[in-house]
Amino acid sequence: TPSDLRDTRGRPLKDLRLSVIDQCNFRCPYCMPKERYGPDFPFMPSSERLSFEQLTRLARTFVSLGVEKIRITGGEPLLRKDLPRLIESLAAMRTLDGRPLDIALTTNGSLLAARAQSLKDAGLRRVTVSLDSLDEALGGRMNGVGFPVARILEGIAAAQRVGLAPVKVNTVIERGVNDSQILPLVRHFRHSGVQLRFIEYMDVGGASRWNPAQVLEADAMRAIVGEHYRLVPDSAAQGHDTAELWQHADGAGAIGFISSMSHPFCGSCVRARVAADGKVYLCLFARHGTDLRPWLGAGQEAALAEQITALWQARADRYSELRDSTASAPVTHRIVRMSLVGG
Ligand code: GTP
Ligand code: 5AD
Ligand code: SF4
Ligand code: SF4
Repeated sequence: TPSDLRDTRGRPLKDLRLSVIDQCNFRCPYCMPKERYGPDFPFMPSSERLSFEQLTRLARTFVSLGVEKIRITGGEPLLRKDLPRLIESLAAMRTLDGRPLDIALTTNGSLLAARAQSLKDAGLRRVTVSLDSLDEALGGRMNGVGFPVARILEGIAAAQRVGLAPVKVNTVIERGVNDSQILPLVRHFRHSGVQLRFIEYMDVGGASRWNPAQVLEADAMRAIVGEHYRLVPDSAAQGHDTAELWQHADGAGAIGFISSMSHPFCGSCVRARVAADGKVYLCLFARHGTDLRPWLGAGQEAALAEQITALWQARADRYSELRDSTASAPVTHRIVRMSLVGG
């Protein structure tokens, strides 16, 4: 029996994005700019993080309400100790119609080469790796800590080797910063089986350097690709996906564009986000979350389901559709930070 839970705009609850830690070993300027996320930044103390037991109970309740996909995020989720143990308990769950859950992980790739096999063994199905440049110097600047691009590529290769498929690569494009990397990345990942996705630079929480002039719209990115490679729109239904897919006409694979700035996709937004401390956010651009911790004890799953149901039924969020494209002052300091809700 499918769930009939709908929000005020008729959207079902299908995806759970579960952040397991708010810290990251990178300092990408579009997410955790160094000057704001320095050694004194008040990250969540580990004592406030939900235990794996609580996370499992939370996930099971979301699944009972219709969730079919769980994406583990951070910060950088591989910094959370023993993560494969959590994945094992998620992998045992089934959707309402009895299928295995789609369990994915968004990572910066820095620890992936070492962890890919144990993640796969635990039941993780696929990974998405963030990579903004093939050029070492630029890549090191864009991750803010000089982390070598070559090691991220090793992580991607390891994920492919162990079958965490399909591997996706997320590339945030900042106009004038890494638009030079669009073609090299496309060339590199042709015929690799990796799905490369270009993301428009968003005014997410924490991105205090965001500036509308630095947004390169998806149409412009596609034109850059189109000068060298012929792309054809992928006719397969897009469903609830964030990315619009295009195929290389010569069969070299797919490329996605995530155009939350130029083509908002709030109308099909079926995502709930939970931070590592158990606060649920119903939009990436939410100002406040609701603490679910009071209902995360053993035997409280029915009460938890009631809470989530009431929140979802009242949901009206559609920030990307309402965002004032003429405003130049970013909202990024008034909303929840991306590194707390995992993007
Ligand atoms: P798939 O399961 O592979 O479709 O992944 P995904 O695209 O849902 O997740 P991922 O973590 O790879 O996110 C890719 C980009 O899309 C990131 O920049 C996210 O912040 C952005 N994104 C994901 N969901 C939303 C959303 O609901 N709203 C907006 N505005 N951006 C989103
Ligand atoms: N705009 C667009 N995407 C962003 N991400 C982080 N910050 C931003 C931003 N300001 C991306 C990361 C990662 C995904 C979860 O979100 O690169 O791939
Ligand atoms: Fe870390 Fe990802 Fe944010 Fe970069 S985008 S600072 S890798 S959480
Ligand atoms: Fe969903 Fe909010 Fe993103 Fe719109 S802006 S797609 S409602 S998370």
